[in-house]
Amino acid sequence: MAKLGVTICGIHFANPVMPAAGPPGKDGAMCQAAARGGAGGIVTKTISVQPAEVPRPCMAEIQGGFLNTELWSELPKEQWLETEYKLAKDTGLPLLIGLGYTAEQIRQLAPLVKPYADALELSTHYVGNDISPIIEALQAAKQAVDVPVFMKMSPHPNIQEIAKAVENAGADGLVMINSFGPCFGIDIETGLPLMGSKEGYGWLSGAALKPLALRCIYDAARVVNIPIIGVGGITSGRDVAEMFMAGASAVQVCTEAILKGPAIYGKIVRELEAFLGSHGYETVEEIRGLTLRKMTESARQTSMAAPVVDPQKCTLCGRCEVSCAYSAISRDEHLKIDPQKCFGCGLCISRCRPRALRMP
Ligand SMILES: Cc1cc2nc3c(=O)[nH]c(=O)nc-3n(C[C@H](O)[C@H](O)[C@H](O)COP(=O)(O)O)c2cc1C
Repeated sequence: MAKLGVTICGIHFANPVMPAAGPPGKDGAMCQAAARGGAGGIVTKTISVQPAEVPRPCMAEIQGGFLNTELWSELPKEQWLETEYKLAKDTGLPLLIGLGYTAEQIRQLAPLVKPYADALELSTHYVGNDISPIIEALQAAKQAVDVPVFMKMSPHPNIQEIAKAVENAGADGLVMINSFGPCFGIDIETGLPLMGSKEGYGWLSGAALKPLALRCIYDAARVVNIPIIGVGGITSGRDVAEMFMAGASAVQVCTEAILKGPAIYGKIVRELEAFLGSHGYETVEEIRGLTLRKMTESARQTSMAAPVVDPQKCTLCGRCEVSCAYSAISRDEHLKIDPQKCFGCGLCISRCRPRALRMP
């Protein structure tokens, strides 16, 4: 059995999968459900000095992803302080408390949550892409508490610059990324936007976000030495492996936990364990930064040769054949790839469900 425990900034997590700030940590009861579902840590929904006035509708499943316009917690900070954080703390799991947004707001909030927090997670979501207000919020938190402070990054266009700046300003870790937007979706029955926000805008999360999250993590991991918690589009243990390979030290899950319920954390953990075991890894730590190492080890050799077929795994389903733009794939009793016609585009490998194709 591969070892799944990770230690980040001195905090030990029995496994690296936790809820992300959002509905999966929207109150103490949800935090307790996450713990029962197998999470290795708890993250509470971002609170600010005032409860959010959330426009509705505020969540919609869309093809390949999810839109939301939830802002931050609609519960007043007093309720969190009196009730919800205690319930979250009772899980016995490491507790990351989400706070937002400006330095002034953080100065008010951080001392209040100090008795409960194993770490703070500050959101940069409504602070913008300028570095100064982000750094000021971080410094306000660092002055108020002595626990690690993680910066929850939006998919800022200048992600490396901001990541480096927050590391230099004393951030203990990064959490990346928040949802992407603004985006837009329409209910074609009514003609109205899916989201009830003023402009009808929403923020994209779920599976569609994963490539952007991976790129941001990969970019940040190349310029900082502080740990990164990966979040964005995780639906399976294989996704967690990808996040680790890009440089993450743990992960968070929001949309998939909303859609499937809190048992998803344990399922993802078991899938991660199975992936590691089947690939001969003894610890999850072994794959952290694997892609970064491979990309820098030597000049990268890319292959333009035709993929290799494993006939034991191939089910002759034809998914590869139908989408081969070069007409290089045919089937009789075996799958055949014509090396003269194959362009080496790799699409068939990514579409093969039984994973019967690989680069040579
Ligand atoms: C409905 C909803 C509410 C969210 N609320 C917060 C929040 O309060 N604070 C925060 O930092 N991120 C919030 N997020 C962003 C998530 O924590 C996460 O970064 C993002 O959804 C990407 O992860 P996912 O693809 O696993 O959902 C929210 C996301 C959703 C879908």
